[in-house]
Amino acid sequence: MSNLISREPQMTTTDIRSSASESAPLRSRAVLVVDETVAIGPVNRRLFGSFVEHLGRCVYDGIYEPEHPTADDKGFRADVLELVRELGVTTVRYPGGNFVSGYRWEDGVGPREDRPRRLDLAWHSTETNQVGLHEFAEWLERTGAELMLAVNLGTRGTQEALDLVEYANVRSGTALSQQRIDNGRAEPFDVRMWCLGNEMDGPWQLGHRTAQEYGALAVQVARAIRQLDPRVELIVCGSSNAEMPTFGTWERTVLEHAYDEVDFISCHVYYEEKDGDLASFLASGSAMDSFIEEIVATIDSVKAARRSDRQINISFDEWNVWYNTRFENEERITDIENWPEAPRLLEDSYSVADAVVVGGLLISLLKHADRVTAASLAQLVNVIAPIMTEPGGPAWRQTTFFPFADASRLARGTALRPRLSSPEHSTAEHGTVASIDSVAVLSENGDAIHVFAVNRNPGSSIDLEIDLRNLHPDTGTARAHLLHADDPYAKNTLERPERVTPKATSLIFEDTRAIVALPAVSWAVITIPLLLQR
Ligand code: AHR
Repeated sequence: MSNLISREPQMTTTDIRSSASESAPLRSRAVLVVDETVAIGPVNRRLFGSFVEHLGRCVYDGIYEPEHPTADDKGFRADVLELVRELGVTTVRYPGGNFVSGYRWEDGVGPREDRPRRLDLAWHSTETNQVGLHEFAEWLERTGAELMLAVNLGTRGTQEALDLVEYANVRSGTALSQQRIDNGRAEPFDVRMWCLGNEMDGPWQLGHRTAQEYGALAVQVARAIRQLDPRVELIVCGSSNAEMPTFGTWERTVLEHAYDEVDFISCHVYYEEKDGDLASFLASGSAMDSFIEEIVATIDSVKAARRSDRQINISFDEWNVWYNTRFENEERITDIENWPEAPRLLEDSYSVADAVVVGGLLISLLKHADRVTAASLAQLVNVIAPIMTEPGGPAWRQTTFFPFADASRLARGTALRPRLSSPEHSTAEHGTVASIDSVAVLSENGDAIHVFAVNRNPGSSIDLEIDLRNLHPDTGTARAHLLHADDPYAKNTLERPERVTPKATSLIFEDTRAIVALPAVSWAVITIPLLLQR
């Protein structure tokens, strides 16, 4: 990416206007004060996780396609592996999702020819079990990401969860660890992160329970798993989304049961544009901010009531844009005689506006990095995914790929508490919102500031001024890029896979203030190297 930087550090505000056009009105401006002394906290690398469910073409025809021209020795698509590495995914939650609530993990281990075909009640599909724990873990090792497993607490319970932990984590000398070794894996999988079921508050979930019932089950399973392997980190299910009628009381009740036994509570959320209301959709990050803050308040009230020293954090292990209404209305498979293998389900094609929302959600996660210490973009390939594939054909990056890859690559270090003043606009769903949202991250060795920003105003360009105060920017090497298109609904497709890509943009310095123009509906990343004499 070329470096389009003004090398005129003393330029004034007036200069900017006059260099653009004598008669152009001064654009409105947001100001972000970057103060390295006011930290939110370190950004946990697990914030950049994703999610692979046995759903649609996420696994089959997605990561695994033995007939594909790029398939490697194990049948994994090399083109997809390369994109997953480029995306910078750090952990992957597996194998569901709703799928896990009816899954028998034993079906997916041992000789492939002996593995049963099963009906997947969650997605009305036929599961061939050609990919299971061994294959998935091997694929994941090729990406460099950490495995996060979910156990089935829908149709199963403590014993089956214990069996899976023994199979995965015990080195040798027991029946199930020996079975793993016989199945070709001498070393344990050594899985640390375990989800205690999936969305158990949802009436759609196999084995759906009340908060009391689930809390009692979760604590029992958690204790048992820890008795077997004290190194595990356990995630108890929170609400499926903030609109659930039990939202809030679910978290409180479940934590009253399980507080002492778990490390995380999960949050899930999906946003979509409804009835053409782009302004509300673009401001989805505000809803995520409130969601996180409400869950943190609930966690801490249970902590206070118990006088506990233990801190529970959030695993935001499903988040994304998902046109769920389309799925509800158009894609449901109802013919019970013919449940297909790997059907095209939930294959949302994402626009620039969707990518800006994803960017806003990443900013929300970073602004709460002290309490959200793990997260999973749902999902990874083909199913509401940043990466799409065509069987036998190419793989390409959706628009949402770019903000995620930017954040994973650059948001390493300490998230700084944003002091942001921004022009505002009104939305039907969220009231008045700041048009610009932004957060800065100080790099691990303190040699750069990375600013992530969205302009979520559907109609106005706004300048973002980054006030670096006491820091010493290296104005000659600072750089910025934007994801934007004149049409906010522009997408990357099979026919036009590179229609939308990030582009370098100019950055102007006024002393220690950097100014970048953010067009309406855009995502921006500004990297400012620092001179170290401070
Ligand atoms: O990610 C798609 C589905 O959304 C998951 O299976 C489920 O957990 C959630 O409702």
